[in-house]
Amino acid sequence: MTAPLDDTSILPLELTDVSFAAGGNRLIKDVTLRFEPGLKTVMIGPNGAGKSLFLRLCHGLLQPTQGSIRWQQETGADRHQAMVFQRPVMLRRSVAANIDYALKLRQISRRDRGDIIDRVLHQTGLRRLADQPARVLSIGEQQKLALARAWALEPQVLFLDEPTASLDPAAIHSVEEIIAAIHDAGTRIIMTTHDLGQARRIADEVLFINRGRILEAAPADRFFNAPENDLAQAFLRGELLW
Ligand SMILES: Nc1ncnc2c1ncn2[C@@H]1O[C@H](COP(=O)(O)OP(=O)(O)O)[C@@H](O)[C@H]1O
Ligand SMILES: [Mg+2]
Repeated sequence: MTAPLDDTSILPLELTDVSFAAGGNRLIKDVTLRFEPGLKTVMIGPNGAGKSLFLRLCHGLLQPTQGSIRWQQETGADRHQAMVFQRPVMLRRSVAANIDYALKLRQISRRDRGDIIDRVLHQTGLRRLADQPARVLSIGEQQKLALARAWALEPQVLFLDEPTASLDPAAIHSVEEIIAAIHDAGTRIIMTTHDLGQARRIADEVLFINRGRILEAAPADRFFNAPENDLAQAFLRGELLW
C-alpha cells in the first residue's frame, strides 16, 4: 500500500473571493465556493472561459492574485492531490517505469512500488503494455497511463482537465470508466470538460463558468433540467461557443 500518511482529510477546499489576473486582464473573477468531500464535480463552459486556469489555481500550480484558496488540512495537502492534463506528458521509458517514477518521487519504498504498479496497471487495463515504451502508446493508452500514474498515488482529490478532449469514442468510454472506478475507490473528482454529454454522464454537481465567472453551481439533475442562469441555458442549447 501507499506510504501511510495520516487519515486526515484535506477537504473541504475553500475558495474565497478568488481572482486571477495576467497581462492586465482578470481571467478568473471573484470565485467563492467550497468543495466538500465525496462528489464528482464537473466544470463546464465554453473555450477560453477559464476552466484550465481554475483547476491550476485549485491544484496550486498558480497563485491567485486576489483572495485565498485553502485546504482544511494544509499540511501535506500537496501529497494528497494529483492532476491529469488534457495531453498526457510521458517520460521516455516504459509504462511501468513511468508509474514507478511517480511513486519514487513520493518516496514510496521500492518494495511497495511493484505491487502498486501491478494493481493500477490491472485496474486500468494496461497490464499487457507494462514493458512498452510509454511514448509509442496511442493517445488513449497514454491517457490511461496518466490516470494509472495518478491513481497509484491514492490521492484524496484528483483534478482532471478535459481528460478526453483528444480521444476517440472508445477511449473516451474507457477513460470515463476509470474515472468512475477511481471515485468509487474513494477519491474526490474535480474535472473540466466542454463535452456536455460527458458532464451528464459523470457529474454529481456542475459548475458553469463563462468569461472567468462561475455563473451557476448546482446539483447535476437541477442544472440539466432547470438551469437558472441565462447563459447556462444558452450553453445547454449549444448557442454559447466562446
Ligand atoms: N498565463 C496566461 N496569461 C494570459 N492569459 C492567459 C494565461 N493563461 C490563460 N490565459 C487566457 O485566459 C483565458 C482562459 O483560459 P483557459 O483557462 O485556458 O480557458 P479554458 O480552459 O476554459 O478553455 C483565455 O482567454 C486564455 O487565453
Ligand atoms: Mg482548458
